Order: sequence, then structure tokens, then C-alpha cells
Amino acid sequence: MRDRILLASPHMSGGEMKYIQRAFDTNWIAPLGENVNGFENDLAAKLGEGEVVALASGTAALHMAMILAGVGRGDTVFCQDLTFAASVNPAMYMGARPVFIDSERDSWNMDPALLKEAIDKFGIPKAVIAVELYGTPGRMDELEAICREKGIVFIEDAAEAMGASYKGRNCGTFGDFGALSFNGNKIITTSGGGAIVCHSKEDASHALKLATQSREAVPWYEHREIGYNYRLSNISAGIGRGQMEALEERIAQKRHIREVYQRELACAPVSFQPCPQGGQANHWLTSILLEADCAVTPGQVIEKLNQENIETRHIWKPMHLQPVFADAPFVTYGDGDGVSGEVFDRGLCLPSDTKLTEEQLMEVADCVKGAVGV
Ligand SMILES: Cc1ncc(COP(=O)(O)O)c(C=O)c1O
Repeated sequence: MRDRILLASPHMSGGEMKYIQRAFDTNWIAPLGENVNGFENDLAAKLGEGEVVALASGTAALHMAMILAGVGRGDTVFCQDLTFAASVNPAMYMGARPVFIDSERDSWNMDPALLKEAIDKFGIPKAVIAVELYGTPGRMDELEAICREKGIVFIEDAAEAMGASYKGRNCGTFGDFGALSFNGNKIITTSGGGAIVCHSKEDASHALKLATQSREAVPWYEHREIGYNYRLSNISAGIGRGQMEALEERIAQKRHIREVYQRELACAPVSFQPCPQGGQANHWLTSILLEADCAVTPGQVIEKLNQENIETRHIWKPMHLQPVFADAPFVTYGDGDGVSGEVFDRGLCLPSDTKLTEEQLMEVADCVKGAVGV
């Protein structure tokens, strides 16, 4: 059997080794060094605004954002319901109480009207965490404006959205803090890594201090607050610098993958994740919904493609349906499982690996058509 077709796997640019070699040559095998600074500069240049601190993961970036937001035990944090658990876990580390907010159909991301409703119902939260699901922005400006008006810290979980934008602003730069992930499956990777984007030098230097065990600027080891070991290594950052050289190419490749699926599946009973007007997705994972009258379930499609050695994946299971968050409130229209529940029930992610050949893409599209009975 041929090699498995993957959802998304690391795709090296070829430029990585020169940075890694330099780290070895200079013996900077440490969580600081030229590559860490260089990677931060590259990210800041691409984002066009904000102060970037490179960290060990996107989860660490969200944890730092929680601390900088002043989230404490018993505080309420509003979080997008349709996401990966890593968006919410850092709020739980702080002892906060999550309230989950449903998505809108137009982007599968947090519904601004429901954010307002949640504020009316539960009062002003300490922070709001909105996600750009699969690299597609929601109505970030509206969410940001609601938070700003009410004095709520707005945290953008842009873990999946490096290179995407909304109304001319780059994802990662909205709100008070942005979190990026460079995990192995992301559009660019450092094998494992992330970054927090801050909007003041004070926040960025506080994040840096927290991430390096909160050491005070004195000759001995003195600590006035609890610290973390969250800095990105100079080796990983070297991979990141090489990856940045290919970011635009990866976005173009991801866009092409989506276009092929759109063309080939035009006759199939499926629709694609929408992007709101003004949004430019990075198309990290092309995701589809099976029409309500489709004869098969996503699980059956996933199983069928698996038999062909093709990896597909369910949409993230909504947070309000997770056993670990069973007690948390869910804000939606009516009393069902909302848009997030429906997207989970009917959706799936298609292979979006930038190393796929045209032939493989066509093969995947044919298998999807076969599985949905076209
Ligand atoms: C939406 C979302 N948030 C947060 C994370 C966490 O990032 P990391 O794996 O780098 O910790 C991820 C990805 O893993 C993610 O997809």
C-alpha cells in the first residue's frame, strides 16, 4: 500500500539547517540565542504590530496571557465553544470558571451577538478567548470592540491562524494578547513551540520574565512571583526561522488545496467552512459540512477514507460537550447544542498537507465523493 495521506504534517523549507547549524557552531544550545531573537523579529515583521515573545507552545502563550490578564481563582472567562481544549485549559490552570459561547454560521467562530448576550447574562468576565478556527477569522473587530467597550481583556487564540488576516489586520494582533502555535501540524512549525503577541513593551518583558522562571534583575536568584520554564529553545527557533521563509508559499499551497476540493466536490452534498467578508484565511485545514440530507455521517466518511489509508478528522468536539467541562454554562440560541454542535455532527477536516501532489488531492476528492455516494 502507498504511504498514508496525512491531514497536515511538517513541511521543511530547506532553509532550517543553516540556522540550526549556526546554533551548534556557536554552542547556543539553549532557550535563548540568536535564533530566538531572529525568529521573534521575523514574526513581528510579518505581523506588522505587537511585541512577540517566543515560547515553548501555544498553550504556554495562552497561559502567559491568562496571567498577564490577571485572571484569578473563581474569575469568569468566556471562551469560544468550538475549539481545541488547549484554548480553555490555561483558564483552568488559573482556577477560572469558563462560560462557553457558541459560533456563528458565517465563520464557525464566536458569535458577537452571543458574546453580548453572555455579558448580559453572566456579567463582565475577566477575559474573553476567541479562536480563528482552522485558520479562518471570525468577526474579530466586533469581538474586540465589545471587549474594549466593557473593559474586558480580549485574548486571540490564533494558534491555527498564522498568516491569516481580517480587514487588513493580521491574525495574532487583535485584542490585548495573541497566541500563536508552531506545533508539528501547524502551517509553520518549530516541532513544538508558540509565541505570545503583546501590545506594550511592559507586557512583553513581563511575559519574558514569567517564561524564564521570574528571575528578578539582581545578581542572585531572587523571585517575587511564580515563574515558568516556557521559553523556546534556540534550536527550535532555528527551525522557525527557516519555516518563515516558506510561510507565503505554504499559504498559497493551502489555498490551492481548498480550491481543488471546492472544484472537485462541487457536485457533492457538502459545503465548506465559510470566511466572513474581509477575512483572508490561511486555509490551515480545509473543513467541510455534509449536507443535512447526506446519507452518511462524518464518522462513516472518516472510516471509509481510513480504509484507503487517508487521514481525515472530526471537527473539534465542542467544549460544552466535553465531560471535563460538563458543569460549565453554554450560551447559544435556544437550548440545543447550537451551531458548534451541528458543525461537530456534520463536519470533518480533509487532508490539507502541503506536500500532497495533485494526484493525491484528486484521489482524496474521489474517495470523498465515493463515500458520500456521488
Ligand atoms: C485552537 C488551538 N489553541 C491552542 C493550541 C495549542 O497550541 P500548542 O499545541 O502549541 O500548545 C492549538 C494547537 O495545538 C490549537 O489548535
